[in-house]
Amino acid sequence: MSATKAPQAARAVPTRPRDERGADGAAPALSDVCSAHERPRTTPGDVQSVEEVVVLDFGGQYSQLIARRVRECGVFSELLPHHVGAAEVLRRRPKGVILSGGPASVYEEGAPPLEPRLLELGVPVLGICYGMQLLSRELGGEVQGAEVGEFGRSQLTVHRPGRLLAGTPAEQSCWMSHRDTVFGAPPGFDALASSTASPVAAFESVERGMYGIQFHPEVVHTPYGQQVLTNFLQDICGCERSWSPSSVIEEQIERIRTQVGDGRAICGLSGGVDSSVAALLVHRAIGDRLTCVFVDHGLMRKNEGEQVIAAFRDHFHVPLVAVDASERFLGRLAGVTDPEEKRKRIGAEFIRVFEEEARKLSAEGEVRFLVQGTLYSDVIESGGGTGAATIKSHHNVGGLPEDLEFELVEPLRALFKDEVRAVGAELGLPERLVWRQPFPGPGLAIRIVGGEATRERLEILREADAILQDEIRRAGLYRELWQSFCVLPDIRTVGVQGDARTYGNVIVIRAVTSNDAMTADWARLPYDLLEQIASRMISEIRPVGRVVLDITSKPPGTIEWE
Ligand code: XMP
Repeated sequence: MSATKAPQAARAVPTRPRDERGADGAAPALSDVCSAHERPRTTPGDVQSVEEVVVLDFGGQYSQLIARRVRECGVFSELLPHHVGAAEVLRRRPKGVILSGGPASVYEEGAPPLEPRLLELGVPVLGICYGMQLLSRELGGEVQGAEVGEFGRSQLTVHRPGRLLAGTPAEQSCWMSHRDTVFGAPPGFDALASSTASPVAAFESVERGMYGIQFHPEVVHTPYGQQVLTNFLQDICGCERSWSPSSVIEEQIERIRTQVGDGRAICGLSGGVDSSVAALLVHRAIGDRLTCVFVDHGLMRKNEGEQVIAAFRDHFHVPLVAVDASERFLGRLAGVTDPEEKRKRIGAEFIRVFEEEARKLSAEGEVRFLVQGTLYSDVIESGGGTGAATIKSHHNVGGLPEDLEFELVEPLRALFKDEVRAVGAELGLPERLVWRQPFPGPGLAIRIVGGEATRERLEILREADAILQDEIRRAGLYRELWQSFCVLPDIRTVGVQGDARTYGNVIVIRAVTSNDAMTADWARLPYDLLEQIASRMISEIRPVGRVVLDITSKPPGTIEWE
């Protein structure tokens, strides 16, 4: 699924948990409605002509983070499922292989095994946590389940730094999460370090090109983690710092040109960073043979539509069809209070509008390509870019006519979200679009809780939201928050203004910090800021009589209210 996604026409899972990566797009890309088999075989693995290190995922909580950290060291990395096989790894001609952590015990029946051929690729291998235990077991070391596990911060004592721990202090803290423990390094290996509960917390054999660490270098709680990864990547694997998100721009432009030839493409712009960056890249590659379609469903935040139009049409001169479909959407939402019904109707209407525009464009000449802001995290989730990927089907909503078939152009398939932002900034995308907080496809409609999304209510909510965003930006907090928004529940409360009794609407302030929307904490906004926000909302928006703050984290709450 793409982050440039449609307001979902039919959420196969009608209730939570939702998929947070839907959050970026107010308007959709048809990613969700195109079937998987149309997808071109451009896995990140064959996208890159740069040096690469493969991270094999054994199911660890931090596996994606390892791949990101490697990239932060200037080395392109891919995360592949552990079972892909040595041939698939070799196909990428990696400079090194990292075996991630994982929840299993190496002794457990059905635990993910290590394919011995992976150790014969002729490139250095680094095992982290479970990866280290696998290496140890395969090479004759001693691994045992310990009575006491080691979880959280731990003290590491480096007895000899070797190559892997070079440049790090003799005493340092690190992050551990394991029960099985390496009690003896494999024959011929040097034990480098120990911790309170791990007699062998790091080992290496320079001769064999094999390295292991029990701790997690990828998490911030391991202060020298990045140094250890750099040692592995640069000193041991001999990688150069030659990769950066922006270094993919020229390469992607070439690829897009090759794929699209002299054909035409269409892109559903949402205002989210993913669809914006994808559109800009494709526009750079094929110019006016790309047309963007921006469907304003009338459920966007204040001025959001104008900003997208100003950036793309006026600033970047991208051919843009902006459809004001708010009447249609509001008509479809009349009398609807159930959140899932709202989602369904918005999604279905979106597809109808997009389809109409696509047909109009096709009447002027064939449009064969659909640009989509699929991110690397989507690729990982749908099979790890092994070429055997099946795209998650639960968001492939129905209702799209058979004859609306596109070949997908997905220039962000190799990038993580933060990398997409870097590319966007490099391409000159306005700061506001680069750093836009996630925004759900169905927009403000699902923030009018327990009630119908009428024009009047949307107006109240939009104004309240504008004040919130304004104050949060002024306080310099916008980027620190995963999301900040307002909710308008369908209730009234009593108040007193001047000498008169009021019976006004309630605005809920919701602001959360999060890394991925799977969990979130309520943001501790300063009291003075909250007071300023509340007093502006009440004095500037007549129908608002009360402002409250949501202090629920996720779990047990969700980020949105419906
Ligand atoms: P919850 O409320 O489940 O939300 O904690 C997690 C993330 O998903 C976003 N969200 C949606 N995004 N369509 C979307 O595109 C939806 O229907 C939808 N509902 C929730 C939400 O904003 C948060 O980032």
